[in-house]
Amino acid sequence: MNIEELKKAPIGVFDSGVGGLTVAREIMRQLPNEDIIYFGDTARLPYGSKSKESIIRFSKQIIRFLRTKHVKAIVIACNTATAQALDAVQQEFDTPIIGVIAPGARAAVAETKNKKIGVTGTEGTIRSNMYTRIIREMLPDAEVLGKACPLFVPLVEEGFKDHHITEEVIDIYLREMKESDIDTMILGCTHYPLLRSAIIRYFGDKVHIVNPAYEAAMDLKKILEENGIANENNEFNKYEFYVSDAAEKFKQFANFVLPYDVKSIEQINIEEY
Ligand code: DGL
Repeated sequence: MNIEELKKAPIGVFDSGVGGLTVAREIMRQLPNEDIIYFGDTARLPYGSKSKESIIRFSKQIIRFLRTKHVKAIVIACNTATAQALDAVQQEFDTPIIGVIAPGARAAVAETKNKKIGVTGTEGTIRSNMYTRIIREMLPDAEVLGKACPLFVPLVEEGFKDHHITEEVIDIYLREMKESDIDTMILGCTHYPLLRSAIIRYFGDKVHIVNPAYEAAMDLKKILEENGIANENNEFNKYEFYVSDAAEKFKQFANFVLPYDVKSIEQINIEEY
């Protein structure tokens, strides 16, 4: 593709399911001229409890699919896939690929006053220690308290955002963090911003809550501008959505999360890629 074609090419965004829509939403807000191709791997969700090998295989298949759509850059809108597969896919593909962990870590480092940071995420993300590693590269004496919260993902997928069960689960997982003296907490899974209000209510105003999606969209903007491939004008945005299963359920969710009317979602067989 020449530079003019690249400017007009879409951004690829993927996640294991609906969580990455929180990142897509930020890209829509901050980069309103960009087209987006979104893929949610709903057939193989959750990623959080799967092995590194599986997540690398899934991520490579999805990137091959997105490349058939001629994307100019890819955002891994999933902390688990970022933690397990970002290095491997960056080595294999020449398309610029960014994840959500470095942007989230940077935002937390900028925010904390007492250098005590909480990180919530899936088992895979917490086990990878990637947040701790990146935070300590910037702030070597930071204390990082990590907690895997595996039930948050199904609660979000079920739409139990404000349910009393969700409040109980938040208390079970996050009590230790609440009783510690962290002043900043990272929502280290793209599903968790959908529980943000309940989590903010739980912590009150003593803890600043970081949503890496916002920072990831800023990183993407920077990369596009540095490479001279940002779309400067686009009157009719195109947002396309693909899933590996349960398109109808995904559509309802997408219409709840996005400031945009999602009319159709296409189901594809991702194993073919
Ligand atoms: N949304 C994914 C993340 O950010 C995890 C959900 C899952 O376990 O599939 O880690």
